[in-house]
Amino acid sequence: MSAVFNFTFVPWFRSVAPYIHKFRNQTFVIGIPGEAIAAGKLPNLAQDLALIQSMGVRIVLVHGFRPQVNEQLLAKGHAPRYHNGTRITDSVALDCAQEAAGQLRYEIEAAFSQGLPNTPMAGATVRVISGNFITARPVGIVDGIDYQHSGLVRKVDVDGILRTLDMGAVVLLSPFGFSPTGEAFNLSMEEVATSVATALQADKLIFVTEIPGIRMDPHAPASDDNPIDTELPLAQAERILAERPPGHNPTDTGFYLQHCVKACKSGVERSHIIPFAVDGSLLLEVYVHDGIGTMVVDEKLEELREATPDDVGGILQLIEPFEKDGTLVKRSRTEIERDISNYTIVEHDGVIFACAALYPYPEAKTAEMAAVTVSPQAQGQGDGEKILRRIEQRAKYMGLESIFVLTTRTMHWFIKRGFQAVDPDWLPEARKRKYNWDRRSMVLVKKLN
Ligand SMILES: CC(C)(COP(=O)(O)OP(=O)(O)OC[C@H]1O[C@@H](n2cnc3c(N)ncnc32)[C@H](O)[C@@H]1OP(=O)(O)O)[C@@H](O)C(=O)NCCC(=O)NCCS
Repeated sequence: MSAVFNFTFVPWFRSVAPYIHKFRNQTFVIGIPGEAIAAGKLPNLAQDLALIQSMGVRIVLVHGFRPQVNEQLLAKGHAPRYHNGTRITDSVALDCAQEAAGQLRYEIEAAFSQGLPNTPMAGATVRVISGNFITARPVGIVDGIDYQHSGLVRKVDVDGILRTLDMGAVVLLSPFGFSPTGEAFNLSMEEVATSVATALQADKLIFVTEIPGIRMDPHAPASDDNPIDTELPLAQAERILAERPPGHNPTDTGFYLQHCVKACKSGVERSHIIPFAVDGSLLLEVYVHDGIGTMVVDEKLEELREATPDDVGGILQLIEPFEKDGTLVKRSRTEIERDISNYTIVEHDGVIFACAALYPYPEAKTAEMAAVTVSPQAQGQGDGEKILRRIEQRAKYMGLESIFVLTTRTMHWFIKRGFQAVDPDWLPEARKRKYNWDRRSMVLVKKLN
């Protein structure tokens, strides 16, 4: 084994450890559209899910079958019919859906049963259990359109799913539900996954989709200057949905996003849109800090927000002790008043517990994060991390490529969060002129992707 391998593998594996600990015993609901299976992604997805499950995550897997049902319909000489993105399920389409669901369940169970030596599934014993966990009701007649056997989720059997998860099994759900009279209804994968995540109050809802995520500017085409927004606050996601017509096709920006927003508003803290085209996207999203797709996060707006002139007094009070002991550079009231729009704060019950400011240097495509402070009473509860993420977002929305900090005592906190030390010469010219060579602060930079 080469020494280089040791130097890369060990730190890499250790960097994943916090996520493994954090997610143990958490519940993830994962929606896989039929398109992913049609594209041949099932074997690798099953391997990654088996790995995630072996690290203690409780998994509910919901599969879709849109292209498989359409294929069966076309083979029988029928054209698939939709209205506003919802299938109109006549009796032929219902037969096709039942056949497609049966076939896909076999394929998924087979994928989880692999276990050849020297493959990622060797030694994995994943039990997959499906069942009648969903009660459905008809969509009915809407705007004069009779949706026939298309349904909506009426109730989720939470106890049944929890007991099955307690047995250590992966719960597999097809987009089907039954009425109390025993009638079958064709549901959408997205609605089932969202309803189940909400009913279970799951820790994550993840859609593995044909789109790579939501772009920083969702109205502009994909480009290097318009990358995927890895973390989208709920309020921003709602604004994006309000600005465009509802998404009816899986490749529309709003299609999966509307379900993520619904889940987040119903108590699922994090919902994700990740691409199935990238091999290992589930692992990258769950176990790497910045992830690969878009995560919609419910941040309580009243807690984390941009500062207003009314906050100047609270900010001064918060940072003063750290200025006195030399951790922070002294800032005057006038200076803070002038720059107040650069500040982000965390407020609980009218008291400011944390703050940080962002000073952009657009010519160098970077910005300084300054005055990073969490009140001693609130330290160690994640406010520092929360405010760092918001500052990263603000910088990304400004089209910047990195953020930097100058610190004399807190380098380890930043390095643990992806910052790297650079020479002070790296600083943008305008900032270099103000660099205090006597203070000898370390310059740490974090690239934003
Ligand atoms: C650094 C600071 C902003 C972190 O805020 P926080 O809300 O406590 O941070 P989080 O809750 O997100 O993270 C807590 C973790 O950071 C660690 N931590 C706190 N201060 C640290 C420091 N100076 N160096 C290294 N790690 C530190 C904690 O031990 C804890 O580690 P754990 O997760 O392994 O238990 C806060 O401690 C602070 O305000 N410090 C004083 C001001 C300061 O130094 N500002 C930076 C100036 S450049």
